[in-house]
Amino acid sequence: MIFDTHAHYDDEQFDEDRELLLSSMQEGGVGTIVDVAADLASWDAIKKMVEKYPFVYGAAGVHPDYVGELSEEKISQLGELLKEEKIVAVGEIGLDYYWDKENHETQKTWFIRQLNLAKERSLPVIIHSREAAADTMEIMKTHGRDLSGVIHCYSYSVEQAKEYVDMGFYIGIGGVVTFKNAKKLKEVVAEIPLTHIVLETDCPYLSPVPNRGKRNSSFNLIYVAEEIAKIKNISVEEVISKTEENARRLYRI
Ligand code: NI
Repeated sequence: MIFDTHAHYDDEQFDEDRELLLSSMQEGGVGTIVDVAADLASWDAIKKMVEKYPFVYGAAGVHPDYVGELSEEKISQLGELLKEEKIVAVGEIGLDYYWDKENHETQKTWFIRQLNLAKERSLPVIIHSREAAADTMEIMKTHGRDLSGVIHCYSYSVEQAKEYVDMGFYIGIGGVVTFKNAKKLKEVVAEIPLTHIVLETDCPYLSPVPNRGKRNSSFNLIYVAEEIAKIKNISVEEVISKTEENARRLYRI
């Protein structure tokens, strides 16, 4: 069954029909979901969600846009949350020089701090990196060596993708791969082995074609799987089952 490795069902865009949507997931072919934290407010919502739904797991951390909210006190709170059985990763964490909401040094400091926390807790990491390819790679090489994880919503070169795969990381592929102008990402999918690809929505954002522009949900991952199957010239079933295996290895569930 489909494994959505990166969703944000705690987002307010799901306030009206969250329950209805999540309770129909398994019937619709979506077997497992990891709901990923962005800001501090999402931690509590995710904790409640994983308690309610057996097939939903969580990741806790702070996205680079919101690291201004962090303090050592919050880090120790995060450390406690990461002891919960169904919180399976630290994320999403990283660098975002596109929105550039916090200065680069602040972003780097809290990124490294959260990588170290993942090491302490022996958990995989979910990396968010936008327009920060070189700095992210440098930090991962110096501080992420002993870690495993996923480079979420991958948007960089084939060469860097191969480098991350060599370091043991997975590459998160979502709706963008179905876009006509996503030539580079299609090439990444063609060049890296299926053993290192995982499916992700990043919902409510980044809906694939034919639902581009609408609110995204895990049901749309079938279109992403179809596109990967087309690029790699294999069956959709193989994409779904292999990426599910990969995701279980990634999150150890
Ligand atoms: Ni996300």
